[in-house]
This record gives sequence, C-alpha cells and structure tokens, in this order.
Amino acid sequence: MAVDFTLNGRAVSVDVDADTPLLWAIRDELGLTGTKFGCGLALCGACTVHMDGVPIRSCQTFVEDVAGTSITTIEGVDSKPAQAVQAAWQELDVPQCGYCQSGQIMSATALLTETPKPSDDDIDAAMSGNVCRCATYHRIRKAIHRAAEIMEA
Ligand code: FES
Ligand code: FES
Repeated sequence: MAVDFTLNGRAVSVDVDADTPLLWAIRDELGLTGTKFGCGLALCGACTVHMDGVPIRSCQTFVEDVAGTSITTIEGVDSKPAQAVQAAWQELDVPQCGYCQSGQIMSATALLTETPKPSDDDIDAAMSGNVCRCATYHRIRKAIHRAAEIMEA
C-alpha cells in the first residue's frame, strides 16, 4: 500500500504494509535514522516525532494513519523553539550516551512551541514519557528553562 505524507517539508511516498510502524518507514524506507527504537511499546519516547506539530510515538503509529499529514523528525526540526532547544542542549552539555536525546529534543520543542515559559510542572508533564537510562533529567529540565530564556532574548 502506498502512503503519501510530508516528511520534513518534502512530499514522500512509502509502499509498505498499512500496519507498518511509522518508525520503520522513516528509518528503513526513507533512510532517516535520527529517530530511535527503544521499547517499541510507546513507553520510552525514543521514537518521538511530530505529526502536524504534535509529538507522537512513531513505534506505535501505523504508517496508514499519517497519510496526508506533516511529519517532522529530528533531522528536520528547525523552528525557533527547536533552535533554542538545540542551543541550550549544547550549552549545558545535556546528552550522555545520546540514545534518548532526539526524542527528548522533539518533546521539549513541542512543549516550548505550546508553552514558551514552562514551569517545572509543565516540564514534568510534557517530558514524563521520555525515559533516559543515563538519568540526564536534571540537565534536561535546566536546558528547557535555558531554551525559554534564549527564545525570549
Ligand atoms: S520506541 Fe517508541 S516509545 Fe519506545
Ligand atoms: S543520554 Fe543516554 S539514554 Fe538518555
């Protein structure tokens, strides 16, 4: 089955089974490997991408369900909040092994797009589905606050 959608601003078409997870269409069919596989059960957030600006878990999203939508991955996210997040992440040296970080960045960017000055509670609510086995949570929280400052400047 051919499924058409927009990926990082570009029209794409994949010919896969309708129930193929979006994650595998992105990685295996379209060659973008920045989005990671962690649990495959929508429990860790490593596979987070945006669908029409909303963070989703691509491991548990069938490719047929994204037909006609706009998907953004870590390779294509370049909004003002995304640039602020990436600058803050670098400034505060957030990643450790890095495996979870594309998912963390996608969730943080979606949060700051909706809520430019998030509270700690906002951050906890938005980021609770993104697991980091290196426990970088304290740096992530700090970096989200820093990204909010960068956006204001
Ligand atoms: S791989 Fe999708 S949430 Fe863990
Ligand atoms: S930085 Fe290693 S899992 Fe998060």
